[in-house]
Amino acid sequence: MLNQIEIARGVYYVGAVDWNLRDFHGYNTPRGVTYNSYLIVDEKICLIDNVKAPYSEELLERVSQIVDPAKIDYVITNHVEPDHSGSLPKLMERAPQAKVVLTNQGRDEVIKYYGKEYDFMTVKQGDVLDIGRNKLHFVPLPMLHWPDSMATFMEGENILFSNDAFGQHFCTSKRFDDENELPVALYEAAKYYANILMPFGKLVVRALDKVSSLPLSMIAPSHGLIWRSHIKDILAAYKRWGSGENRERVVIVYDTMWGSTEQMARRILDGVASTGVEVRLMRISTTELSDVALAVLEAGGILLGSSAHNSGPLATMAAASSYLQGLKPQNKLGGAFGAFGWNGGAQERLEAGLAASGITAALPSLFLKWTADKAELQQCFEFGQQFGEKVKEANRKD
Ligand code: FEO
Repeated sequence: MLNQIEIARGVYYVGAVDWNLRDFHGYNTPRGVTYNSYLIVDEKICLIDNVKAPYSEELLERVSQIVDPAKIDYVITNHVEPDHSGSLPKLMERAPQAKVVLTNQGRDEVIKYYGKEYDFMTVKQGDVLDIGRNKLHFVPLPMLHWPDSMATFMEGENILFSNDAFGQHFCTSKRFDDENELPVALYEAAKYYANILMPFGKLVVRALDKVSSLPLSMIAPSHGLIWRSHIKDILAAYKRWGSGENRERVVIVYDTMWGSTEQMARRILDGVASTGVEVRLMRISTTELSDVALAVLEAGGILLGSSAHNSGPLATMAAASSYLQGLKPQNKLGGAFGAFGWNGGAQERLEAGLAASGITAALPSLFLKWTADKAELQQCFEFGQQFGEKVKEANRKD
């Protein structure tokens, strides 16, 4: 016997909770990860998404406790990434009669991943599937965050099965937002958005237009908690993040070889703080990239600092710069700084990295030789001060 959770009339949680996962393809997950799957028992029986392959048997056991898997009519595959489709081959062995419902792109991906031609039913925007008391409306969300991604809205119980959107990497034994601490749920939702959806802000805003007008009683993502009491909060947060709204915040991401760049970073921080702007210092060799992404999400300014090493930045900073280039944060000001001995080389690479990330250089870089003397420390303070003023100006709310 397994704990049975009915989240709405005839809708059951049958997913898996991966309490101890700490690395989700490079994203640090201190609170673990869930793979949410939902079983709808109506005149037709539907499974919404499934779980990562190692949890296939658990999924089948949870389903079997409610209904024989051989009776499943539709396996709705909102997204083919293996955290949501890994158990498909095992599931389909037990439910060979089921139709696999997905977008055209999803169909191609399933065939390539699993080498199987299931009984596919491809859907597009506006398609509706009548399953009895409820109707399923399909809402493709291409590139949020894969080409195949879609959401499914269940008219009747009015649940949006949103897949990755609105998710959080957060394990608990309670499934709803109001059964857990809201600040933690929103923190993890922000971290999830920052690391998975940040590159697609414009598409997020467009997707919100599609879903915000629906009469939502729940948003049931495929990771983390189900939103039922704080739907407005999570929709408002997505609107803010998608449209690139920033705060008067500066994030200084740096690494240092012998302490000179760190000394600069600390003095720059003081300069920024003197303008009243919030400022955070993150040494990348002791900070997870996924936490940097979260800090950057609502920051108006990003400063990258590095010692020179082998005619470039330290490898840790090269990685941070590469991560930022992938995330393409919106509406940010940037700058670069650091210490070098003879050739330098970090400056050009960090400046190029900021430009490739779509970050606007707010002031000339500050690089100095060996280590800062008293006058140069004052220069660092003023650099921070000028940067703080520019961030304040760009993000003034009045
Ligand atoms: Fe949770 Fe894009 O997979």
